[in-house]
Amino acid sequence: MATTWRELYGQVPALLPRIREVRGVLSAFNTNIDAVVKVRGDRIAAIARDLGLDPAALRAEGPRRIEEPGDVVRGLVRCFTGGIAEEWIVQGEEVSRWAGEAFGEGRLQMGGQAGIVANALAYLGVEQVLVHCASLPAIQAGLFQDLPGLLAPRADGTLAPARTVVRDDPPMVHRILEFDRGDVLPLPDGPRNCPKSNRFIATFDPWNLQMRLDPHLVSAAAAIPLELAFLSGYHLIQDPLPDGRPAREAIEASLRVLEAIRRPRPDLLVHLEAASTQDRQVRRLVLEEVVPQVHSLGLNERELIDLLEVLDPDLARRCEGDPHGGTLWEGLRTLQQRTQVPRVQLHFFGCYVTVQDRSFPWSPEATRLGMIVAAALAAGKAACGALETPEARTWAQGRDPGEVGLQEMASLARALGLSGAAATTFLETGILRGPDRDVVAIPTVLVERPVSLVGMGDTISSLSLVGALAARKAGA
Ligand code: GLC
Repeated sequence: MATTWRELYGQVPALLPRIREVRGVLSAFNTNIDAVVKVRGDRIAAIARDLGLDPAALRAEGPRRIEEPGDVVRGLVRCFTGGIAEEWIVQGEEVSRWAGEAFGEGRLQMGGQAGIVANALAYLGVEQVLVHCASLPAIQAGLFQDLPGLLAPRADGTLAPARTVVRDDPPMVHRILEFDRGDVLPLPDGPRNCPKSNRFIATFDPWNLQMRLDPHLVSAAAAIPLELAFLSGYHLIQDPLPDGRPAREAIEASLRVLEAIRRPRPDLLVHLEAASTQDRQVRRLVLEEVVPQVHSLGLNERELIDLLEVLDPDLARRCEGDPHGGTLWEGLRTLQQRTQVPRVQLHFFGCYVTVQDRSFPWSPEATRLGMIVAAALAAGKAACGALETPEARTWAQGRDPGEVGLQEMASLARALGLSGAAATTFLETGILRGPDRDVVAIPTVLVERPVSLVGMGDTISSLSLVGALAARKAGA
């Protein structure tokens, strides 16, 4: 079995150069600055003590947003003890500044799905990548790769390398507090262990919060032969918006931009990347307004559960209680059936699963190869700390996918009603053709000690798509 997957993973080096044949990608809307810092359990405990927070206050199920320093600690403790990732919105700049002082400023890196994906795709050779930035001060521009094909609109609407486009805007800083599996948080009522390396994000970002749009995006996009639009950023919106307008207004404004961009090119493939969205009303709006406009949706298990909380709360609870192959498959299938999105891709620990309509323009083989490219590079990114290094490109070569993924696929196979030879074929090939839709699943290469996990989902989803585009060009 491992031989087949090793052979499939062995196709990655030959496919990577073909990413250069992908001519144009739009990456919008959220670009920001990530200030990434690794926090240790004892530091969290010390800060909680300084703030006078007792264990009960830290466990309290309050609103998932940040109004005062204690909320940062509450969210962080929740993520640390659960080994989960969440992003909460900071309501005032002082608290964000406090968090920088308390936990450290850390290192600055490109943040936001749009920014991360733009850097990744341009680095891998996509000919032209147009990136949207709500705010683009020098410190933000400097986080873009120095590549001639990575473009942003200037203030006069013309295109220039994103790194050189500097506007007089305020910086949007997200504090990424990362923690390690096995670390211990010593609280007065006993130590808590961290079960899984993950992160808590405290976001102060008034411009992306209202999805402030660059007025030159549509004309800039017209100058580029776009094949794919990768969208994200809706998760930052809160209803009502900071200026009191309903969230729906910001969402509809973005959709008008999308419509104008795709009018001259009706074949443009549009992907939406879900992200940790705290505001349930915004999740509902995204499902009602944005999802029907896209061909493809990408998410992790937490984001799947978030959307199911709106669509099917019982199933959301079941997925939460058993976030593994079979149960998640039920969630994924329900999401796809209820929304009718032609392609939905779920990534979770050890495994990616895509369900796509038979009428989707790519074969399941192209989809599988795209997913494998994504898994190989995402592993390299996690192991090396950044995708944009030569080591990250080759890190996964010669490594077998993890046993966890194969077990998840076995659980998925049972949920798909497969047994005997049919189950074996699915485990070996990862493809199950159905009358209306195909299922494609792969086991991923695991990284024992990831240097950093932020931006993994964005990388996985965008590389799966671009990898599949390249595979299709190569005849898969
Ligand atoms: C969210 C966060 C951003 C981070 C990104 C990584 O968009 O707001 O700070 O870079 O997720 O996926």
